[in-house]
Amino acid sequence: MYFSLTNVQIYFCNFKLFKNIVIEPSLINKMTILEKNKKYIKKSNELLKLCENKTIRKQEAEFIIEMLREVIIFHENQYYIKNQPLISDFDYDKLERFLKDIETEFPELQDENSPTQRVGSDKNVEFAQRKHKYMMLSLGNTYSEQELLDFDNRIKKILETNFKYVCELKYDGTAIGLTYVDGKLKHAVTRGDGIQGDDVTANVRTIKSIPLVLRSKNVPKEFEIRGEIFLSHKAFQKLNKEREERGDAVFANPRNAAAGTLKMQNSSLVAKRPLDCFLYYLLAENLASKSHFENLEIAGEWGFKVPEQIKKCDDINEVFDFIKYWDEKRAELPFDIDGIVIKVDSLDQQDELGFTAKSPRWAISYKFKAERVSTKLNSIDYQVGRTGAITPVANLSPVQLAGTTVKRASLHNAGQIELLDLHCADIVFIEKGGEIIPKVVGVDIDKRKDDSEKVKYIIKCPECGTELIKKEDEAKHYCPNYYECPPQIKARIEHFISRKAMNIASGQATVDVLVNKNLIKNFSDLYFLKKDELLQLERFAEKSVQNLLKSIEDSKNVDFEKSLYALGIRYVGATVAKTLAKHYKNIENLKNASLDDLISIEEIGERIAKSVVEFFENEENIRIINRLKEANVCFEMKEEGVKVSGELYGKSFVVSGVFPNHSRIEVKKIIENNGGKNVSSISSKTTYILAGENMGPAKLMKAEKLDIPIISIDDFLKMIE
Ligand code: IVH
Repeated sequence: MYFSLTNVQIYFCNFKLFKNIVIEPSLINKMTILEKNKKYIKKSNELLKLCENKTIRKQEAEFIIEMLREVIIFHENQYYIKNQPLISDFDYDKLERFLKDIETEFPELQDENSPTQRVGSDKNVEFAQRKHKYMMLSLGNTYSEQELLDFDNRIKKILETNFKYVCELKYDGTAIGLTYVDGKLKHAVTRGDGIQGDDVTANVRTIKSIPLVLRSKNVPKEFEIRGEIFLSHKAFQKLNKEREERGDAVFANPRNAAAGTLKMQNSSLVAKRPLDCFLYYLLAENLASKSHFENLEIAGEWGFKVPEQIKKCDDINEVFDFIKYWDEKRAELPFDIDGIVIKVDSLDQQDELGFTAKSPRWAISYKFKAERVSTKLNSIDYQVGRTGAITPVANLSPVQLAGTTVKRASLHNAGQIELLDLHCADIVFIEKGGEIIPKVVGVDIDKRKDDSEKVKYIIKCPECGTELIKKEDEAKHYCPNYYECPPQIKARIEHFISRKAMNIASGQATVDVLVNKNLIKNFSDLYFLKKDELLQLERFAEKSVQNLLKSIEDSKNVDFEKSLYALGIRYVGATVAKTLAKHYKNIENLKNASLDDLISIEEIGERIAKSVVEFFENEENIRIINRLKEANVCFEMKEEGVKVSGELYGKSFVVSGVFPNHSRIEVKKIIENNGGKNVSSISSKTTYILAGENMGPAKLMKAEKLDIPIISIDDFLKMIE
């Protein structure tokens, strides 16, 4: 393929036109961003095709270089700043390599501002900047065995003596530099632009695997240790599930989730996400050993989590063995890696080899090609979730990927299908990250038939035919037929009985039968099931019916946070339910809570608050809750051995004087346990003065002046009986 200057220019000129349009800020909505992303993806694909054609003529070079720089800077921004990479690392690296190659071929076109001349930057204005004591460089990388052999030959040539390599996994997270002074964590700084980065110490202090104080006495007075912060697959899946429940956008992969978490402004929220960290590079004036391998062992003794899968290699063949082993085994690791890092072990030899402007000459990363396969898109299923959310799922011709046969892959939402520009019967690329379900990451446009039709997103619910709705600020479409749409009804009951909710020993098959036989229409009906009617059902033997009814009976006593979670209020996942239960103590208080009141609770945003208010405004929901109450389902907080209720919710007390059988602290605790609020001084907003003996005369006068009722401890105890 040979691109003529005019073709290339026409194509890119169109693109430039788009870029130069001045858009009024208010019009830059989601659609514009999507359009922009699409254009850049299209442009990247064209450039990737151009890469294959290594013969670039001088007249073209200048133009292509300019475009490559623009596209690479766009992707850098998506990756480092927005945490939303739109192309794979492999394709990104290919573009960068292409640019480097043309710049080498035409040195007169070199520019100090080219993205090839600097380390990518993840600096973020919201954080204080801190200068790195030692430049924080990246690594040269390769996907080719030949280039690894070239690296080995270069080193042999420079060192002219024996040397050893150390192979480590290349953790796919976000880089961090930790400074310790006198054995205590002082600063944690991201790479930034290599010279200075974001000071994220407060967030890093929440990471359990990073020691705040070191155990050993033999640590240098001051040193830095660098590593990679990441999220395990399990933590990533849990986080995304919670985000989906709350209606927040899910993270595309564990790396984005880790980087996004590290840059959050509120470290108490960071603490709730189990970030982890491997530390792989020790820097100090006088290190205990001259071997990198030994230094990591020593760092492990100090209390750092150092690489567990690490090997000292005598030659490049052993390095290849390590690479081969982990390329096959990486699917079994509980976290993502994207390659192997190969380092010269001796620090003296590292010094001798030195650095280029961007990376050390003594190390390189061999990157695995993302486990990506292509297969045919046969059809798309649209699944209807518990809340009516529609998830498109691709049905694929079966294909082997990372040890399993893949037949289905997630397409997430309409925006994703649009971004992929998916056509019927396309040949699609599938990748597996930290997710359980693989995802469609691209389309092989060359294999698309000319007459193939663009995928049209459904407009009606595939289950009940109701017209779908989509709110502007949400990615998903919804079926609004909440009470009649069969999969929504069943999914809500399944959610209600699930282990984290009412923990009723039953499953999807039983729910199907009970709903299909019209024995239950919603989850409150479970509590009114009769033994006789159940025994008449096929495959419902005496014993299983007994077990089911006992389990339903036991569920009446689950904690309030669980019964609240079980109701399946949109965006109220297990964590939010806990917060609400703790705050409101019982369902009545929650039902009466205003939007403002809900929003004033930490962690409850407008979207959750609106959803709660809407839920309790709905008569059918109230009817269901009343039936659950009638069945004695617990909708109140309880605490071991302490009477807890919501009786005093909304009431404020000033406790004064001495009480015969309780200390003042005990009295205050009782007020809190029953939903009331303690205030220290009397104001017109005070509901009661709880007076013991010897109440101060000043308080008495103020209470009388403001006409605030003064009650005794006996009156008070009667209130909460
Ligand atoms: S050593 C002077 N070791 O990969 C270079 N880096 O693409 C010191 N990475 O910037 C880095 N695992 O963020 C090193 N075992 C490992 C690594 C590793 C992941 C990251 C690191 C680095 C990037 C280079």
